[in-house]
Amino acid sequence: MPETIPQSSILLLRDVPALRAWRAPQTHDRRLVALVPTMGALHAGHLSLIRRAARENHHVVVSIYLNPAQFGASEDFASYPSTWDADVAALAKLDRELADDGANLGRVSAVFAPSTKDMFPEGFPGQEVDSKGSFVSITPVGEVLEGKSRPTFFRGVATICMKLFNAAQPDRVYFGQKDAQQTVIIRRLVRDFLLPIEVVVGETVRDADGLAQSSRNVYLGARRRALAPVIHRALRAAEGAYASGQTSGEALLGEVNTVLDGVLAEQKALPPSKRALYEVDYVSVADPDTMLEVDAVDPAKGAILSTAVKMLPVEEPFEGEDLGHIGGPPVRLIDNVILPPRAES
Ligand code: PAF
Repeated sequence: MPETIPQSSILLLRDVPALRAWRAPQTHDRRLVALVPTMGALHAGHLSLIRRAARENHHVVVSIYLNPAQFGASEDFASYPSTWDADVAALAKLDRELADDGANLGRVSAVFAPSTKDMFPEGFPGQEVDSKGSFVSITPVGEVLEGKSRPTFFRGVATICMKLFNAAQPDRVYFGQKDAQQTVIIRRLVRDFLLPIEVVVGETVRDADGLAQSSRNVYLGARRRALAPVIHRALRAAEGAYASGQTSGEALLGEVNTVLDGVLAEQKALPPSKRALYEVDYVSVADPDTMLEVDAVDPAKGAILSTAVKMLPVEEPFEGEDLGHIGGPPVRLIDNVILPPRAES
């Protein structure tokens, strides 16, 4: 009997041969196969991508693989939240909802959960910048913004996605807009390596106060979580200015920085027992196809306005304070808004 996720008919495919054996007849049967790549720790953003994939395809494969290649040697690979039981329970529940909703073409057909041995048959090459092995690098887009702070990150993402795409041979792949630079990298990967795959980007899912859903939000704890929506508020200030006609990169960055700096100054005025602090890694207005900075937004093209903010550890926690997953180390949060193209007046 094939292995399934508890309380569902979702197949659990644990290696590449099992995935290939399941995939092969789908082409013959003219079934559209979607892949939603994840590293587990599923949240509402993932579930919304899976819902969309089920609306548009006969089969949805969700991959759950915590990819060591996209973590730097000093990053949080070892502590990254691992929530397998909750993840598969969420998928089983979502699949029941999909079955009850006649608007969907498909369901969650399979979870692909390979081991590192499956994904790196010659052995894992390592997390160092100069590690030797078979990598996919997409430059220069992979070297700026997130790639500047995390030099092996996009090499790891592009490499694992190439492997997942080769193993699953999806017709469509689904990624979230929250990781804007990642979506640009994936589009370039598909285009430059002539992969017969459509890349679909789903909207960022936000909590009611604007914080973008992310697997890393569990690191925040209550105090930093309460402050974190400042990121979206800052981006929205610039979005508003763009909507009112502002196209200067400097002016748009100024809008974001005014909000981020203002709130930080307020926090700094509080005693350490009450405040939370952060450092702004970058604020960027970039070309939507290359992620390279622009001096002014070309209204015919639009731009991506993005930021990365490092929430610093709480300095003086009170007795019993919720400091977040593994006691609240620094957490780097990223977010972005799309400045859409518009007709010039
Ligand atoms: O966005 C993520 O969770 C990861 O970067 C991805 C695309 C699953 C590759 O490991």
